Amino acid sequence: MNFELTEEQLAVKEAARDFAINECKAGVIERDRDQIVGHEQLKKLGELGFMGMMVDPKYGGSGMDTLSYVLAMEEISKIDASISVAMSVNNSLVCWGLESFGSEDQKQKYLVPLATGQKVGAFCLSEPEAGSDATSQRTSAIDNGDHYLLNGTKNWITNGSTASTYLVIAQTDADKGHRGINAFIVEKGWSGFEISAKEDKLGIRGSDTHTLVFTDVKVPKENRIGEDGFGFKFAMKTLSGGRIGIAAQALGIAAGAYELSLAYSKERETFGKPISEHQAIQFKLADMALEIDAARLLVHRAAWHKDNGKDYSVSGAMAKLNASEVAMKTTVEAVQIHGGYGYVKEYHVERLMRDAKITQIYEGTSEIQRIVIARNILKD
Ligand code: CAA
Repeated sequence: MNFELTEEQLAVKEAARDFAINECKAGVIERDRDQIVGHEQLKKLGELGFMGMMVDPKYGGSGMDTLSYVLAMEEISKIDASISVAMSVNNSLVCWGLESFGSEDQKQKYLVPLATGQKVGAFCLSEPEAGSDATSQRTSAIDNGDHYLLNGTKNWITNGSTASTYLVIAQTDADKGHRGINAFIVEKGWSGFEISAKEDKLGIRGSDTHTLVFTDVKVPKENRIGEDGFGFKFAMKTLSGGRIGIAAQALGIAAGAYELSLAYSKERETFGKPISEHQAIQFKLADMALEIDAARLLVHRAAWHKDNGKDYSVSGAMAKLNASEVAMKTTVEAVQIHGGYGYVKEYHVERLMRDAKITQIYEGTSEIQRIVIARNILKD
């Protein structure tokens, strides 16, 4: 077993770290406070080739492996998890979904601008009454000759207003259960497509999360992804990879909080010595380092599974479940190590603590990951 990263992977990690420090750090507190999307940062991510990292260069992507992608996700999430979630949705859900299951025409028309970062994508599955229970789609797409008529509401959509291209999951035949669900490519600006309320969130506040409303939106037949009835499996397969990206985001949030805590513990003095010399703090730092390392191994294993043609739905779920719990625990401890300073915005750890929480919720709650793992254990 080889735990060494290749030179290319190390270069990606370095480039992502430079980008995070030089382009994301300044203004991260203000973007969080005022809920401002880092459009400039997303544009630069596209220029770096980080918006379509795993996409084949023939479609404008960087042709990198999943391990490179999780390395970049970790580094950027250490500094700004709002930027990294936009990056993750674009890479793992939208680009991967289109490249894996889209037609050649769909790839040329929609994937190329997404992979090059000229446009940003959104993945629209969740609804007011269909979050974890993804088969209970109320949004309908009725076959109407050469097009479908799309009606319904999607909630909590990441990149809701930033995106130009939306992958929308909808029910086409309620009697067929999950086999009556399809996925469609919908463009911003189409008649009847309204980008509605923006959520005022606890964390990842620099990421725009919206409700989307579709009223008699005409979706051309050629914008359905895959065979009729493939939409639920499309969503599940896409989310399996997405979870590896969010696991890497959670890992980065934890590692960012740890790095800040380690540095702070060497500067801050109490009782006549740096707090890093107090055993109470040493134990916290040791636990953080251990748990982050273990989380990283699970994230890298899931990425390795994906890169090597193995099943990664369970290892991805394990990686996400664990990394998100480590992110929550580590960030709470980071605030504790910082004491009063940790509770104010200037020291960053309170933001990381708020950002960590969403990693236990989106792309499947921790409970959903446990369901995926348990079903696998019990399947025989
Ligand atoms: N890969 C491929 N196929 C899969 C699959 C996977 N990972 N998971 C399920 N399937 C298939 C099954 O094999 C089955 O197919 P057959 O009927 O042909 O055998 C079919 O899909 C239905 O499977 P289940 O009966 O297991 O479906 P279920 O209704 O019990 O649901 C679930 C399973 C795991 C709970 C699923 O509903 C789920 O993952 N829910 C969570 C959804 C989610 O992650 N939402 C997050 C929203 S997106 C988001 O957050 C993005 C963002 O903005 C950041």
